[in-house]
Amino acid sequence: MKKQVLSYWLKDSQKKTYPRLESNINVDVLIVGGGITGLLCAYQLAKLDKYRIALVEKNQLYHSTTGYTTGKATLQHDDIYHQLLKNKGETIARAYYLANSEAVLGLKKIATEENIDCDWVDTKAVLYAFNQEELKRLQKEQSAYDTLGIPYEWLDKDNIPFPTLGGLAIPNQGVFHVVKFLDGIVSKLNIDIYEKTKIIKTKPSEKGAVAETVDHYKIHAKHIIIATHYPIYKRFNFYFMKIKPVCSYIAIANEFAIPSDNAYINLIEPVLSIRFLDSAMPKLMVAGFGHDVKNYYSYREQIHRLKTMATGKLQAKDFFEEWYNQDYETMDMIPLIGKAADGPLYIATGYRKWGISSSFVASQIIKDQIQGVNNQYAYLFDPCRSKNAFKTICYNFAMFSTVIKTKLLTVPKSIKIKPGTGRIIQHKMRKIGIYIDQNGKTYSEKPICTHLGCTLRFNNVTKTYECPCHGSRFNYDGTCLDGPAVRNLTKL
Ligand SMILES: Cc1cc2nc3c(=O)[nH]c(=O)nc-3n(C[C@H](O)[C@H](O)[C@H](O)COP(=O)(O)OP(=O)(O)OC[C@H]3O[C@@H](n4cnc5c(N)ncnc54)[C@H](O)[C@@H]3O)c2cc1C
Ligand code: FES
Repeated sequence: MKKQVLSYWLKDSQKKTYPRLESNINVDVLIVGGGITGLLCAYQLAKLDKYRIALVEKNQLYHSTTGYTTGKATLQHDDIYHQLLKNKGETIARAYYLANSEAVLGLKKIATEENIDCDWVDTKAVLYAFNQEELKRLQKEQSAYDTLGIPYEWLDKDNIPFPTLGGLAIPNQGVFHVVKFLDGIVSKLNIDIYEKTKIIKTKPSEKGAVAETVDHYKIHAKHIIIATHYPIYKRFNFYFMKIKPVCSYIAIANEFAIPSDNAYINLIEPVLSIRFLDSAMPKLMVAGFGHDVKNYYSYREQIHRLKTMATGKLQAKDFFEEWYNQDYETMDMIPLIGKAADGPLYIATGYRKWGISSSFVASQIIKDQIQGVNNQYAYLFDPCRSKNAFKTICYNFAMFSTVIKTKLLTVPKSIKIKPGTGRIIQHKMRKIGIYIDQNGKTYSEKPICTHLGCTLRFNNVTKTYECPCHGSRFNYDGTCLDGPAVRNLTKL
């Protein structure tokens, strides 16, 4: 695969490269996907020292969603607790809190016990309000914290170093360098790892389950963990109707005018999520301006708006990094984690941009399920739960208009494309996706999603094609990166 635009985190990576799988193999546990979910599952299972484990990754370890995160480890997932109390009741809201609280502690414990230098900093996670509507939601969340016994501190506006109406702070949360953390985890793992090994099929078999690589090698396993972000469970599955892709933008600045202490986030778009990195030479990371991927915002304009807001509120200057990232969310806000309906196959997805703690929860649940041990939180995340049908139907109904919109969208007939940028243009009766690299080499792809045929958009922030329908993403050379699509784009 051609080079992706690397994030600040990935530029620091010390990870080795791993071979492609070139034979059939038999293992106890196969993990598909080398993001934080796959690697935490590998770590937890390897610690038991009783399974032969292999992990296969279609590109490079943690070069997908995980390598482009903000890296906050917190149980404060926006204002989820009052919504869970209202929609699911106290038992489920409390279980969600406890599972994520244990996850934050668990991540820190791994970093400490394994001596991984991942710039972990204990912080307060602060949910703040810019306006009255957010303040009302914050007050509801505060009352949920009281009900559930979540420790917090109310911060008046004078205790927040930029203009707000106040905030709810949870102590003892963390921010860290996720790539250094995973570099550390990988260096401790004694398992077989294969990169550039794409799985095209997973299914139950007589002895457990079997996966097939794109080169038609078979991996027989007693258990298969599908940690592929979008679950590639079965050749054609309907998860794209149960999880929706959402995105956000990230930028990093060298200069800013507030103390580099807590991690902050507000509730309603435009969201300005804030954290700091590099304590020796502090930098400000801001994230936000997120939206459903089906909405046609300009990627460049969203990044520009994010930076302008950070400059206005925090006097941020000298931005030197920016990127765009996507995650999936479920209709009831709770991730899908655990054993799938048939066979020893396990999935973990739908983290709603809170995948750092959720991936740890996933690794605990799946480890227990593989061992046949009861996990007290498994019922909450059960991927087979079938409630929220109404929301699911509404979401998928609305998707029809997106599909049609992608087909009707007009694109320029011819346009000058600068090196390092891409566009979709109309040539005679067909659309062509063109990217010209810095050396002047041209890449031409058919900009039609290989999942269900929606027309793609070109994202000049990340040099990728994006599908507004269910979130499939392709590198500028057509390589499939993420989402329900399995095949690369057709070359033109
Ligand atoms: C802008 C943004 C900011 C975020 N910030 C935070 C934050 O501060 N805190 C937080 O808790 N969460 C955050 N998140 C969410 C978090 O980053 C993700 O939920 C998490 O990284 C998902 O990890 P994963 O391992 O499940 O998926 P991924 O990192 O996407 O890993 C899946 C891997 O599977 C591989 N794969 C896919 N298909 C195949 C196949 N067929 N064969 C083999 N391999 C395959 C992929 O190449 C990939 O490497 C953020 C998300 C976004 C979008
Ligand atoms: S992801 Fe479904 S059509 Fe593109």
